[in-house]
Amino acid sequence: MEKLYLMFPEELGKIAPEVYGHFSEHIGGVIYDGIWVGKDSAVENVHGFRKFLIDKFAAIHPPVLRWPGGCFAETYDWRDGIGKERPVRPNWWTRNDNRYESNEVGTHEFMDFCELVGTKPYVAANLTSVTPLHVRDWIDYCNSPEGTTSYAKERAENGHPAPFDVKYWGIGNENWGGGGNMTPEYYAMEYRRFSALADNLPGDKVLIACGPNAADYGWTKGFMESMANSEKHMQGLSLHYYCAFAGNPVAFSRDEWYQQLQQALWMEDILKRHWSIIEGYGMQAWSKLVIDEWGCWHPDGSGPSKGYNLFEQQSTMRDAMVTALTLNIFNNHCDKIMMANVAQLVNNLHALFLAGGENCIVTPTYHVFDMYKGHQGATAIRTAVKRQKVAFTDKQGREAGIDNLSVSASYKDGTATITIANLSAEDDSSLLLTPIGQQLCDAAKMQILAEEDYHAHNTFEEPERVLLKTQTVDLREEIVIPRAGMVSIEAKIRE
Ligand code: AHR
Repeated sequence: MEKLYLMFPEELGKIAPEVYGHFSEHIGGVIYDGIWVGKDSAVENVHGFRKFLIDKFAAIHPPVLRWPGGCFAETYDWRDGIGKERPVRPNWWTRNDNRYESNEVGTHEFMDFCELVGTKPYVAANLTSVTPLHVRDWIDYCNSPEGTTSYAKERAENGHPAPFDVKYWGIGNENWGGGGNMTPEYYAMEYRRFSALADNLPGDKVLIACGPNAADYGWTKGFMESMANSEKHMQGLSLHYYCAFAGNPVAFSRDEWYQQLQQALWMEDILKRHWSIIEGYGMQAWSKLVIDEWGCWHPDGSGPSKGYNLFEQQSTMRDAMVTALTLNIFNNHCDKIMMANVAQLVNNLHALFLAGGENCIVTPTYHVFDMYKGHQGATAIRTAVKRQKVAFTDKQGREAGIDNLSVSASYKDGTATITIANLSAEDDSSLLLTPIGQQLCDAAKMQILAEEDYHAHNTFEEPERVLLKTQTVDLREEIVIPRAGMVSIEAKIRE
């Protein structure tokens, strides 16, 4: 048995609630038949959105939801998605045999969905194929006070007199790739034009620039070099990191279990190195990281649509483990991160939900977001524990090792939240919580996500194969973290 030290005097910073954010793009089956079924659907819905998904999503307290892309954002004209007559446009990113966008869900519907689930909108604006004025007009349409501009009046005519008050605006998406294949220097010049105009309206706004893909430090350096001393128009720098293929999404080997986790653990190094570049340009005071796409990216075809929905995949306990360790990394680096958005909400990549027709289920990843919600807005503290190395063969056939434990802890309103993931596929871990600088009450609530078989996942046929369990534990005794499992402990701090 090892001691897990909870060092209350060593505060790491406040965990922005937005670190627990989400992403819903017009891609594959995310919007249509994912969150949206239509008002006349036989599927139980509220204003056209799946009721089951609304209720379950609201229950994990989503702080922010990114929309409408991703790649889709860079071909999106927001005017297509307002009013009664909505044009149909090509959308390469949707279904494999139906690459069209009906625009049934546009600005008003998205804002309605945000309101129904109690989340803030984060709108990703197009930079590649429109003008700066186009983006400014969208901000005007969303945020101008009632009865002021012509766009505010048009918004009222379309059913929403009050402003939507959108605070978070992304200016471009993946402009190093699908978003225009730009160099960082060229993108910086474009960003300066767009952000200057976006900021040319009153209101509380956070402007987020397109940052690097994974370990592309050259992008961060090139962009920062061109942006140095222009703090006025940038509050966030996005970072996308997907941990790529490690075998079949549901039938992976022991080595592939560890290979996937090893790739997920690289997130820590990647964000630290990008952060050091930001600091190198002295921009850390006003420009934090926004990790607005992260998660596992498996080969297509394992989701219920069997490859019909682009990038739809099943999620097992391995994906839940990636979620747990990634969120622990974010908590432990909360001083550097303003927001993060797991990709994506439903039917796409690292999803929390899988849906189709009358079916809608949660994945193991959903449960991890549920277990971790106590960290939102809490003060993170340093933890220390002796870890074991677990050996495996990496993707290049070399001997490799990763630590068996991933931990983070925080406190808020007299309650401490401690989340521990046991990455070992073989051995349980026993820990004694050892608080320093505070005392915890003996009885605590513990939630456990663990399965005998780490391939376990939910399906339309067996929707509750993976379930969260809750028990009361006595913190004077050791707690057991099952192999390939994770726990969340909520303990009251003694007065
Ligand atoms: O999340 C799926 C896609 O991955 C997004 O559209 C894009 O931004 C990224 O490459």
